[in-house]
Amino acid sequence: MILPPNRFLLTAALVGSVLAATTHRTGNFNVKPFKIDLAGEIPHLKSLVNNTRLPETALYPEAGPNSGIELDTLRELSDEWVTSFDWEKEEAEMNRLDHFTAEIEGQTVHFVHQKSKDVDAIPVLLLHGWPGSFHEFLPVIEPLTQPTHNTAGKSVSFNVVVPSLPGFIFSSAPPQNWTVDDTARMFNTLMTEVLGYSTYAVHGTDWGSIVAYALYGSFNQTVRAAHLAFLPFLSPSEDEIAANNITLSDEQKVTLARMNLWNQVGNGYLVEQGTKPNDIGLALYDNPVGQLAYLANQIKLWSDPRAGTPPSVLDNTAILTGISLYYLTHTFHSSVWIYAQNMASFLTVYTKAPTNAPLLFSQFEYNVSLWPEEYVAKVGNLVSYKVHDFGGHFAGLDNPPALIADIRNIANYWVF
Ligand SMILES: *[C@@H]1O[C@H](CO)[C@@H](O)[C@H](O)[C@H]1NC(C)=O
Ligand SMILES: *[C@@H]1O[C@H](CO)[C@@H](O)[C@H](O)[C@H]1NC(C)=O
Ligand SMILES: *[C@@H]1O[C@H](CO)[C@@H](O)[C@H](O)[C@H]1NC(C)=O
Ligand SMILES: *[C@@H]1O[C@H](CO)[C@@H](O)[C@H](O)[C@H]1NC(C)=O
Ligand SMILES: *[C@@H]1O[C@H](CO)[C@@H](O)[C@H](O)[C@H]1NC(C)=O
Repeated sequence: MILPPNRFLLTAALVGSVLAATTHRTGNFNVKPFKIDLAGEIPHLKSLVNNTRLPETALYPEAGPNSGIELDTLRELSDEWVTSFDWEKEEAEMNRLDHFTAEIEGQTVHFVHQKSKDVDAIPVLLLHGWPGSFHEFLPVIEPLTQPTHNTAGKSVSFNVVVPSLPGFIFSSAPPQNWTVDDTARMFNTLMTEVLGYSTYAVHGTDWGSIVAYALYGSFNQTVRAAHLAFLPFLSPSEDEIAANNITLSDEQKVTLARMNLWNQVGNGYLVEQGTKPNDIGLALYDNPVGQLAYLANQIKLWSDPRAGTPPSVLDNTAILTGISLYYLTHTFHSSVWIYAQNMASFLTVYTKAPTNAPLLFSQFEYNVSLWPEEYVAKVGNLVSYKVHDFGGHFAGLDNPPALIADIRNIANYWVF
């Protein structure tokens, strides 16, 4: 089934006429409150999943997850999607937040804007990547709006803005030649002109880190702090790290081993999406079990082996909610295009961004790439480098307390 492309705008317009006051500068950006309303699509999803045939037994039972998703894992998640997964509950949870859409450069941008009651709150932009969404920040948004005190006794809280990347979930698909630099410009407009923040901080993970680094380097008047978990520079090899006499901690050695494995058998999806995005995008367009098979194993392989146990909330329900968002909004296809559109964005020569704004960096042990502190220090005004012994690629779900603490740490360096 194909939704009319303006379905979401229509919903937003209806809600918008009921909710009167917004604190946004509406300007020419046509800002409207937005509610997620996809429950009507769930019967189609469940019937497709329920009617999908899977093999009776695994072809090669010893193959293991590094050969792709295991049949038992796929069956368990599929069964849960049909029988116990409660979309309405997840949707209500997401709708507790204040969602909006705006029109920027001719495109629809969806974002959550959760404000603190504190007048001194720091505006912070949280940027997701692939295969993530605003949903991966759910556990950190409200805590960040709540005032706490830092070690110096100063009150700390945030006005949190979480957009959907262009082509993801409720944001419209950008033109074919759109790059992460264009996204950075669009999000700077969102923060400054649409929402009226003259300065702000940014946090990013995965593609969101690349956008965040572009913002950090290109908008040095408005972006006054960045917290990243990734750099748009190729991470150094094991040999290069050794040749530079860099000593790694035990946690970093685990990350290094996972990075080596990713380089050997983990990056097939990247080549596929970077070169033939329509093949995988259309093959899985109306195939929820296909999207599940393609995404769930990567989510698990990039996460802590303890995912789903405290402090991680990255359980089957979170995985199914994240994949449902891609399937139900028909944006799996446009999301994979971000690879094809940005294959040139990884640099090998480390250069320093032209900004004096503080840069904070965190590495989560079970993630799949490693940048030692010595390398991060080459690209910005590094003021904090942390290694966490729990969590992986999706830190907002896999170790929310650590991510909340890291983002709050921005306040220790915030001078504007
Ligand atoms: C799934 O299919 C089975 C067998 O055809 C049927 O009995 C069951 O009601 C279906 N469940 C859903 C949720 O559609
Ligand atoms: C990208 O494509 C649009 C049309 O979709 C065109 O107006 C624009 O000039 C192009 N930009 C670049 C950098 O090629
Ligand atoms: C995990 O590593 C990836 C690179 O593989 C990076 O893009 C992402 O930002 C990292 N995320 C976290 C939370 O460490
Ligand atoms: C690493 O240490 C060795 C032995 O002390 C030394 O010869 C070499 O110059 C060092 N390399 C760097 C890049 O500092
Ligand atoms: C911003 O960047 C420009 C050059 O790109 C540089 O001259 C200027 O000093 C930078 N400003 C800050 C506040 O870092």
